[in-house]
Amino acid sequence: MAWWKICVVAGGYVLLMIIRRITRQRRLCKSPETMKGKTAIITGANCGIGEATALEMAKRHARVILACRDEQKAEDAVKYIRRNTSNGELIVRKLDLASLASVRAFCGKILEEERHIDVLVNNAGVFQSLYGKTEDGFEMQMGVNHFGHFLLTNLLLDRLKESAPSRIIVVSSSLHKGGIIKFDDLNSEKGYDKKKGYSNSKLANCLFSRELSQRIKGTGVNVYCVSPGFCPATSLGRHVMSGFVRTLLTPVVVLLGLKTSEEGCQTIIYCTVASELADVTDGYFASCRQEPWSEAAGDLGAAKKLWELSEKMTGMIA
Ligand SMILES: NC(=O)c1ccc[n+]([C@@H]2O[C@H](COP(=O)([O-])OP(=O)(O)OC[C@H]3O[C@@H](n4cnc5c(N)ncnc54)[C@H](OP(=O)(O)O)[C@@H]3O)[C@@H](O)[C@H]2O)c1
Repeated sequence: MAWWKICVVAGGYVLLMIIRRITRQRRLCKSPETMKGKTAIITGANCGIGEATALEMAKRHARVILACRDEQKAEDAVKYIRRNTSNGELIVRKLDLASLASVRAFCGKILEEERHIDVLVNNAGVFQSLYGKTEDGFEMQMGVNHFGHFLLTNLLLDRLKESAPSRIIVVSSSLHKGGIIKFDDLNSEKGYDKKKGYSNSKLANCLFSRELSQRIKGTGVNVYCVSPGFCPATSLGRHVMSGFVRTLLTPVVVLLGLKTSEEGCQTIIYCTVASELADVTDGYFASCRQEPWSEAAGDLGAAKKLWELSEKMTGMIA
Protein backbone atom coordinates (compact mmCIF):
# COMPACT_ATOMS: atom_id res chain seq x y z
CA MET A 1 0.00 0.00 0.00
CA ALA A 2 1.27 3.46 -0.83
CA TRP A 3 2.49 5.57 2.09
CA TRP A 4 -0.14 8.22 1.54
CA LYS A 5 -2.91 5.61 1.87
CA ILE A 6 -1.48 4.39 5.18
CA CYS A 7 -1.30 8.01 6.35
CA VAL A 8 -4.96 8.63 5.38
CA VAL A 9 -6.14 5.48 7.26
CA ALA A 10 -4.00 6.32 10.34
CA GLY A 11 -5.14 9.98 10.25
CA GLY A 12 -8.78 8.92 9.95
CA TYR A 13 -8.37 6.59 12.92
CA VAL A 14 -6.77 9.30 15.08
CA LEU A 15 -9.55 11.74 14.11
CA LEU A 16 -12.20 9.17 15.05
CA MET A 17 -10.53 8.59 18.41
CA ILE A 18 -10.42 12.37 19.08
CA ILE A 19 -14.13 12.71 18.20
CA ARG A 20 -14.88 9.68 20.39
CA ARG A 21 -13.01 11.24 23.31
CA ILE A 22 -14.88 14.53 22.97
CA THR A 23 -18.34 12.90 22.65
CA ARG A 24 -17.53 10.56 25.56
CA GLN A 25 -16.81 13.50 27.87
CA ARG A 26 -20.14 15.07 26.89
CA ARG A 27 -22.00 11.84 27.68
CA LEU A 28 -20.71 11.41 31.22
CA CYS A 29 -22.70 12.42 34.30
CA LYS A 30 -21.10 15.58 35.66
CA SER A 31 -22.65 15.30 39.14
CA PRO A 32 -19.85 14.73 41.66
CA GLU A 33 -21.95 13.39 44.58
CA THR A 34 -20.73 10.32 46.46
CA MET A 35 -23.07 7.50 47.48
CA LYS A 36 -21.31 6.75 50.76
CA GLY A 37 -23.79 5.30 53.27
CA LYS A 38 -26.39 4.63 50.54
CA THR A 39 -27.84 1.24 49.65
CA ALA A 40 -28.94 0.68 46.07
CA ILE A 41 -30.72 -2.29 44.49
CA ILE A 42 -30.17 -2.81 40.75
CA THR A 43 -32.14 -5.46 38.87
CA GLY A 44 -30.32 -7.24 36.04
CA ALA A 45 -26.92 -6.03 37.26
CA ASN A 46 -24.92 -8.96 35.89
CA CYS A 47 -24.27 -7.48 32.45
CA GLY A 48 -24.82 -4.49 30.16
CA ILE A 49 -26.19 -1.24 31.53
CA GLY A 50 -27.04 -2.78 34.93
CA GLU A 51 -23.48 -3.97 35.49
CA ALA A 52 -22.09 -0.60 34.39
CA THR A 53 -24.50 1.10 36.83
CA ALA A 54 -23.31 -1.16 39.66
CA LEU A 55 -19.66 -0.35 38.85
CA GLU A 56 -20.32 3.39 38.79
CA MET A 57 -22.24 3.26 42.09
CA ALA A 58 -19.49 1.16 43.71
CA LYS A 59 -16.93 3.74 42.56
CA ARG A 60 -19.09 6.30 44.40
CA HIS A 61 -18.85 4.11 47.57
CA ALA A 62 -22.41 2.73 47.55
CA ARG A 63 -23.55 -0.55 49.04
CA VAL A 64 -24.88 -2.21 45.87
CA ILE A 65 -27.25 -5.17 45.78
CA LEU A 66 -27.05 -6.97 42.45
CA ALA A 67 -30.52 -8.50 42.00
CA CYS A 68 -30.04 -11.17 39.33
CA ARG A 69 -31.69 -14.39 38.22
CA ASP A 70 -28.36 -16.20 37.69
CA GLU A 71 -26.19 -15.96 40.81
CA GLN A 72 -23.09 -17.27 39.03
CA LYS A 73 -23.33 -14.54 36.37
CA ALA A 74 -23.80 -12.01 39.18
CA GLU A 75 -20.66 -13.29 40.98
CA ASP A 76 -18.75 -12.91 37.67
CA ALA A 77 -20.01 -9.32 37.49
CA VAL A 78 -18.76 -8.74 41.04
CA LYS A 79 -15.30 -9.98 39.96
CA TYR A 80 -15.38 -7.62 36.95
CA ILE A 81 -16.40 -4.67 39.16
CA ARG A 82 -13.69 -5.55 41.70
CA ARG A 83 -11.07 -5.50 38.92
CA ASN A 84 -12.13 -1.91 38.29
CA THR A 85 -12.68 -0.53 41.78
CA SER A 86 -12.15 -1.55 45.38
CA ASN A 87 -14.70 1.04 46.58
CA GLY A 88 -18.18 0.25 47.83
CA GLU A 89 -19.78 -2.99 48.90
CA LEU A 90 -21.25 -5.59 46.54
CA ILE A 91 -23.95 -8.09 47.49
CA VAL A 92 -25.56 -10.69 45.23
CA ARG A 93 -29.19 -11.69 45.72
CA LYS A 94 -31.32 -13.94 43.55
CA LEU A 95 -34.26 -12.36 41.74
CA ASP A 96 -36.13 -13.84 38.79
CA LEU A 97 -38.62 -11.27 37.54
CA ALA A 98 -40.35 -13.95 35.47
CA SER A 99 -41.63 -15.49 38.72
CA LEU A 100 -43.80 -13.61 41.21
CA ALA A 101 -42.82 -16.18 43.85
CA SER A 102 -39.16 -15.27 43.27
CA VAL A 103 -40.00 -11.54 43.51
CA ARG A 104 -41.77 -12.17 46.84
CA ALA A 105 -38.91 -14.31 48.17
CA PHE A 106 -36.34 -11.66 47.14
CA CYS A 107 -38.30 -8.84 48.82
CA GLY A 108 -38.82 -10.92 51.98
CA LYS A 109 -35.07 -11.45 52.30
CA ILE A 110 -34.21 -7.83 51.52
CA LEU A 111 -36.73 -6.50 54.06
CA GLU A 112 -35.23 -8.83 56.66
CA GLU A 113 -31.65 -7.81 55.88
CA GLU A 114 -31.73 -4.16 54.86
CA ARG A 115 -32.82 -1.38 57.19
CA HIS A 116 -32.35 1.21 54.41
CA ILE A 117 -33.08 1.17 50.71
CA ASP A 118 -32.04 4.51 49.28
CA VAL A 119 -32.16 3.70 45.57
CA LEU A 120 -34.07 1.14 43.50
CA VAL A 121 -33.10 0.79 39.83
CA ASN A 122 -35.59 -1.22 37.78
CA ASN A 123 -33.17 -2.04 34.99
CA ALA A 124 -33.60 -5.71 33.99
CA GLY A 125 -35.21 -6.19 30.63
CA VAL A 126 -36.09 -8.59 27.84
CA PHE A 127 -36.01 -7.37 24.23
CA GLN A 128 -38.00 -8.84 21.34
CA SER A 129 -38.13 -12.41 22.60
CA LEU A 130 -40.24 -15.00 20.77
CA TYR A 131 -43.66 -15.54 22.32
CA GLY A 132 -43.27 -17.09 25.72
CA LYS A 133 -44.82 -16.87 29.16
CA THR A 134 -43.55 -16.28 32.66
CA GLU A 135 -44.23 -18.70 35.50
CA ASP A 136 -47.44 -16.78 36.25
CA GLY A 137 -48.69 -16.78 32.66
CA PHE A 138 -47.69 -13.24 31.61
CA GLU A 139 -46.26 -12.66 28.14
CA MET A 140 -42.49 -12.65 28.76
CA GLN A 141 -41.59 -9.04 27.80
CA MET A 142 -44.59 -7.55 29.63
CA GLY A 143 -44.07 -10.00 32.51
CA VAL A 144 -40.40 -9.24 33.19
CA ASN A 145 -40.22 -5.61 32.09
CA HIS A 146 -43.46 -4.48 33.73
CA PHE A 147 -45.30 -6.95 36.02
CA GLY A 148 -42.21 -8.27 37.85
CA HIS A 149 -40.94 -4.77 38.53
CA PHE A 150 -44.45 -3.58 39.48
CA LEU A 151 -44.67 -6.13 42.30
CA LEU A 152 -41.03 -5.66 43.30
CA THR A 153 -41.40 -1.89 43.69
CA ASN A 154 -44.64 -2.15 45.63
CA LEU A 155 -43.23 -4.71 48.05
CA LEU A 156 -40.17 -2.53 48.75
CA LEU A 157 -42.08 0.77 48.83
CA ASP A 158 -42.55 1.10 52.61
CA ARG A 159 -38.81 0.59 53.19
CA LEU A 160 -38.03 3.19 50.50
CA LYS A 161 -40.42 5.59 52.26
CA GLU A 162 -38.78 4.91 55.63
CA SER A 163 -35.41 5.67 54.01
CA ALA A 164 -36.55 8.97 52.44
CA PRO A 165 -35.18 10.93 50.73
CA SER A 166 -34.90 8.00 48.36
CA ARG A 167 -35.18 7.47 44.62
CA ILE A 168 -36.69 4.96 42.20
CA ILE A 169 -35.27 4.83 38.69
CA VAL A 170 -37.37 3.08 36.06
CA VAL A 171 -35.35 2.17 32.96
CA SER A 172 -37.55 2.52 29.89
CA SER A 173 -36.58 3.24 26.26
CA SER A 174 -37.37 5.81 23.61
CA LEU A 175 -39.05 2.90 21.77
CA HIS A 176 -41.96 3.28 24.24
CA LYS A 177 -43.21 6.04 21.92
CA GLY A 178 -44.49 3.39 19.48
CA GLY A 179 -46.18 1.38 22.23
CA ILE A 180 -49.82 0.92 23.14
CA ILE A 181 -51.42 -0.71 26.17
CA LYS A 182 -53.85 -3.39 25.01
CA PHE A 183 -56.10 -3.40 28.05
CA ASP A 184 -58.20 -6.28 26.71
CA ASP A 185 -55.11 -8.38 25.89
CA LEU A 186 -52.14 -7.38 28.09
CA ASN A 187 -50.52 -10.77 27.52
CA SER A 188 -50.87 -10.67 23.71
CA GLU A 189 -52.85 -13.89 23.61
CA LYS A 190 -54.91 -12.63 20.65
CA GLY A 191 -51.83 -11.77 18.59
CA TYR A 192 -48.13 -11.12 19.21
CA ASP A 193 -45.55 -8.99 17.48
CA LYS A 194 -42.20 -9.12 19.29
CA LYS A 195 -41.20 -5.54 18.31
CA LYS A 196 -44.54 -4.11 19.44
CA GLY A 197 -44.36 -6.32 22.54
CA TYR A 198 -41.13 -4.58 23.57
CA SER A 199 -42.48 -1.08 22.89
CA ASN A 200 -45.67 -1.87 24.79
CA SER A 201 -43.72 -3.10 27.82
CA LYS A 202 -41.52 0.01 27.78
CA LEU A 203 -44.62 2.23 27.57
CA ALA A 204 -45.92 0.29 30.59
CA ASN A 205 -42.66 1.29 32.38
CA CYS A 206 -43.39 4.98 31.66
CA LEU A 207 -47.04 4.78 32.73
CA PHE A 208 -46.06 2.84 35.88
CA SER A 209 -43.52 5.49 36.78
CA ARG A 210 -46.08 8.29 36.24
CA GLU A 211 -48.82 6.71 38.37
CA LEU A 212 -46.32 5.69 41.06
CA SER A 213 -45.00 9.23 41.40
CA GLN A 214 -48.58 10.56 41.78
CA ARG A 215 -49.42 7.98 44.43
CA ILE A 216 -46.35 8.64 46.59
CA LYS A 217 -46.07 12.40 46.16
CA GLY A 218 -44.94 14.05 49.41
CA THR A 219 -43.35 10.90 50.87
CA GLY A 220 -39.80 11.92 49.93
CA VAL A 221 -39.49 9.10 47.38
CA ASN A 222 -38.84 10.51 43.92
CA VAL A 223 -39.46 8.61 40.68
CA TYR A 224 -37.42 9.09 37.50
CA CYS A 225 -38.04 7.37 34.18
CA VAL A 226 -34.88 6.97 32.09
CA SER A 227 -34.13 6.26 28.46
CA PRO A 228 -30.48 5.12 28.39
CA GLY A 229 -30.09 5.61 24.62
CA PHE A 230 -28.98 3.11 21.98
CA CYS A 231 -26.20 0.88 23.39
CA PRO A 232 -25.91 -1.91 20.82
CA ALA A 233 -23.10 -3.88 22.45
CA THR A 234 -25.02 -5.04 25.54
CA SER A 235 -26.66 -8.49 25.67
CA LEU A 236 -30.09 -6.98 25.01
CA GLY A 237 -30.04 -8.12 21.38
CA ARG A 238 -29.65 -11.79 22.35
CA HIS A 239 -33.04 -12.74 20.88
CA VAL A 240 -32.43 -10.98 17.56
CA MET A 241 -28.75 -11.70 16.77
CA SER A 242 -26.16 -14.36 17.53
CA GLY A 243 -23.44 -14.04 20.18
CA PHE A 244 -20.87 -13.88 17.37
CA VAL A 245 -22.51 -10.85 15.75
CA ARG A 246 -22.81 -9.20 19.18
CA THR A 247 -19.07 -9.73 19.79
CA LEU A 248 -18.31 -8.04 16.46
CA LEU A 249 -20.44 -5.09 17.55
CA THR A 250 -18.05 -4.08 20.35
CA PRO A 251 -15.31 -2.64 18.05
CA VAL A 252 -18.00 -1.21 15.75
CA VAL A 253 -19.49 0.68 18.71
CA VAL A 254 -16.09 2.23 19.47
CA LEU A 255 -15.34 3.05 15.82
CA LEU A 256 -18.73 4.60 15.09
CA GLY A 257 -18.86 6.47 18.38
CA LEU A 258 -22.02 4.68 19.54
CA LYS A 259 -22.84 4.40 23.25
CA THR A 260 -21.10 1.84 25.44
CA SER A 261 -22.81 0.39 28.54
CA GLU A 262 -20.73 2.75 30.65
CA GLU A 263 -22.11 5.69 28.68
CA GLY A 264 -25.63 4.19 28.68
CA CYS A 265 -25.75 4.09 32.50
CA GLN A 266 -24.91 7.79 32.94
CA THR A 267 -28.49 9.07 32.96
CA ILE A 268 -29.38 6.45 35.59
CA ILE A 269 -26.44 7.68 37.70
CA TYR A 270 -27.49 11.29 37.13
CA CYS A 271 -31.03 10.59 38.35
CA THR A 272 -29.62 8.66 41.32
CA VAL A 273 -27.20 11.29 42.62
CA ALA A 274 -27.88 14.74 41.19
CA SER A 275 -28.66 17.10 44.07
CA GLU A 276 -30.48 19.50 41.71
CA LEU A 277 -33.11 16.76 41.20
CA ALA A 278 -33.96 16.55 44.92
CA ASP A 279 -37.37 18.20 44.33
CA VAL A 280 -38.06 16.61 40.95
CA THR A 281 -40.31 13.59 40.52
CA ASP A 282 -42.45 12.25 37.65
CA GLY A 283 -39.79 13.19 35.08
CA TYR A 284 -38.50 11.56 31.89
CA PHE A 285 -34.74 11.75 31.41
CA ALA A 286 -32.32 11.06 28.55
CA SER A 287 -28.70 12.14 28.04
CA CYS A 288 -28.51 13.41 31.65
CA ARG A 289 -31.29 15.95 31.22
CA GLN A 290 -35.04 16.12 31.61
CA GLU A 291 -37.15 15.84 28.46
CA PRO A 292 -40.89 16.28 27.93
CA TRP A 293 -43.06 13.18 28.26
CA SER A 294 -44.10 11.70 24.93
CA GLU A 295 -47.73 11.75 23.82
CA ALA A 296 -48.03 8.02 24.58
CA ALA A 297 -46.73 8.47 28.13
CA GLY A 298 -48.98 11.51 28.64
CA ASP A 299 -52.14 9.43 29.06
CA LEU A 300 -52.58 9.56 32.83
CA GLY A 301 -55.94 7.79 32.58
CA ALA A 302 -54.17 4.82 31.00
CA ALA A 303 -51.50 4.97 33.73
CA LYS A 304 -54.19 4.68 36.45
CA LYS A 305 -56.01 1.90 34.63
CA LEU A 306 -52.77 -0.06 34.09
CA TRP A 307 -51.91 0.30 37.77
CA GLU A 308 -55.30 -1.05 38.89
CA LEU A 309 -55.12 -3.98 36.48
CA SER A 310 -51.53 -4.74 37.50
CA GLU A 311 -52.53 -4.81 41.19
CA LYS A 312 -55.09 -7.49 40.40
CA MET A 313 -52.91 -9.46 37.99
CA THR A 314 -49.93 -9.64 40.36
CA GLY A 315 -52.17 -10.66 43.27
CA MET A 316 -51.53 -7.50 45.27
CA ILE A 317 -55.26 -7.10 45.74
CA ALA A 318 -58.01 -9.68 45.36
N1 LIG B 1 -29.10 -1.48 25.19
C1 LIG B 1 -29.92 -0.57 24.68
O1 LIG B 1 -29.70 -0.08 23.55
C2 LIG B 1 -31.11 -0.09 25.44
C3 LIG B 1 -31.84 0.97 24.90
C4 LIG B 1 -32.97 1.42 25.59
C5 LIG B 1 -33.34 0.82 26.77
N2 LIG B 1 -32.61 -0.22 27.27
C6 LIG B 1 -33.06 -0.84 28.54
O2 LIG B 1 -31.96 -0.93 29.42
C7 LIG B 1 -32.15 -2.03 30.31
C8 LIG B 1 -30.88 -2.86 30.37
O3 LIG B 1 -30.65 -3.38 29.08
P1 LIG B 1 -29.20 -3.87 28.57
O4 LIG B 1 -29.00 -3.27 27.24
O5 LIG B 1 -28.19 -3.71 29.62
O6 LIG B 1 -29.53 -5.42 28.34
P2 LIG B 1 -28.80 -6.76 28.83
O7 LIG B 1 -27.33 -6.61 28.73
O8 LIG B 1 -29.47 -7.87 28.10
O9 LIG B 1 -29.22 -6.82 30.38
C9 LIG B 1 -30.52 -7.20 30.74
C10 LIG B 1 -30.49 -7.70 32.16
O10 LIG B 1 -31.83 -8.10 32.50
C11 LIG B 1 -31.75 -9.37 33.13
N3 LIG B 1 -32.97 -10.15 33.04
C12 LIG B 1 -33.60 -10.61 31.95
N4 LIG B 1 -34.64 -11.38 32.31
C13 LIG B 1 -34.67 -11.39 33.67
C14 LIG B 1 -35.48 -12.01 34.65
N5 LIG B 1 -36.49 -12.84 34.31
N6 LIG B 1 -35.22 -11.79 35.95
C15 LIG B 1 -34.19 -11.01 36.33
N7 LIG B 1 -33.35 -10.41 35.46
C16 LIG B 1 -33.60 -10.61 34.14
C17 LIG B 1 -30.61 -10.08 32.40
O11 LIG B 1 -30.19 -11.22 33.13
P3 LIG B 1 -29.55 -12.50 32.35
O12 LIG B 1 -28.21 -12.10 31.87
O13 LIG B 1 -29.54 -13.57 33.39
O14 LIG B 1 -30.50 -12.79 31.22
C18 LIG B 1 -29.60 -8.95 32.35
O15 LIG B 1 -28.94 -8.86 33.56
C19 LIG B 1 -33.38 -2.79 29.82
O16 LIG B 1 -34.50 -2.44 30.60
C20 LIG B 1 -33.58 -2.26 28.40
O17 LIG B 1 -34.91 -2.31 27.99
C21 LIG B 1 -31.50 -0.69 26.64
